[in-house]
Amino acid sequence: MNKEIKILIVVIVFTLITYFGVEPFAHSQMHKHVEGKGFAYKDLPELKVKGDPAKGKELVMGAGACTGCHGIKAADAPAPMDASTAAATYGVNPPDLSIVGALLDEKFLADLIKNPAHALKVEHKFSESKPYPMSSFAGAGGDLEQEVADMVAYLKSIAPKEVTPKEAYDMACGRCHAMRYAKWTQLGETPKFKYKKDELAYKLKVVEYQDHLAKYIGKLPPDLSIIIRARSEDFLETFVEDPQSQLHGTAMPRVGLTAEGYEKVRQHLEDVGDPSKPARESLGWKVILYFVIFTIIAYLWKQKIWSKLH
Ligand code: HEC
Ligand code: HEC
Repeated sequence: MNKEIKILIVVIVFTLITYFGVEPFAHSQMHKHVEGKGFAYKDLPELKVKGDPAKGKELVMGAGACTGCHGIKAADAPAPMDASTAAATYGVNPPDLSIVGALLDEKFLADLIKNPAHALKVEHKFSESKPYPMSSFAGAGGDLEQEVADMVAYLKSIAPKEVTPKEAYDMACGRCHAMRYAKWTQLGETPKFKYKKDELAYKLKVVEYQDHLAKYIGKLPPDLSIIIRARSEDFLETFVEDPQSQLHGTAMPRVGLTAEGYEKVRQHLEDVGDPSKPARESLGWKVILYFVIFTIIAYLWKQKIWSKLH
């Protein structure tokens, strides 16, 4: 056999072994496949009693102390402190609670109120000497389960029917993750400034917030501008559903989104990180159509030429 052909065969064999044998194996070892659970949160108990929103409102605004740390715009309750002061106090800015009832699972909310670090799966990061910044609700004198259900019912009653993808991102991720492509920092959307001095002062505030956040959570959470293209949809979904399943020991909390809530967040990640996706997908069909028509024409042309030669 010709020497070149032998070399070619060896190269082909080794390439195939690497491609079908080694790479998939390495991939499966480095990125373990995690089965999604449809955002069902089966580890959390179902609510056993029906909540009363009116009683829940009293608790949220009063004995539950929620408005001591959180704003609720939908109920005309402004945040007790601005984002910078909150970050200096808690390490992170507690989100406004107006739309949590539309985005977060109710079992998750109930568990969060009773024991935040448990619901968020970050107990390994906190202890008695370093308590989680959101306090646990131990009851206001009545039946604890009933009081918690009342608060969940209230939060659901004030939540709007429609939440935009951006609002969903803001509530669920925006306090920790910046998105440069959307001019988003942990302080919110960056305003336009008339004077350089104001712009610099704002940038300093962002840096200070990020310092507090990094100290609180161990590192600055990554910018999510292009995460939709950097990671597979499967990874993102299972990671947000349960960060511990993909990255054991991570400080990123399980945020407790429902499947619809996650879809909203995913949409925002796509709108910002991959805005040309709809155009690309609609172009795909046009290209295929072009090839089909071209094939037909080429075939007819060939028939015509050969018919003359026979
Ligand atoms: C002492 C301050 C404090 C109190 C009181 C408090 N929270 Fe929080 N809460 C926080 C902080 C801080 C965070 C953000 C923590 C983080 O992201 O690491 C938070 C986060 C949340 C979140 C977002 C969780 C997620 O999945 O992203 C919800 C919902 C919430 N709190 C609801 C409540 C409710 C309801 C109450 C009243 C029963 C309450 N909080 C009382 C400080 C507080
Ligand atoms: C309380 C802060 C906090 C919130 C809220 C939060 N994250 Fe994170 N996130 C982190 C931290 C911290 C890390 C870094 C984890 C690590 O390296 O251990 C992280 C990492 C990630 C990563 C991994 C990036 C990679 O390439 O490995 C993704 C993806 C992510 N977050 C998405 C989200 C999304 C989507 C949301 C909202 C639904 C969200 N996060 C909410 C703190 C947060």
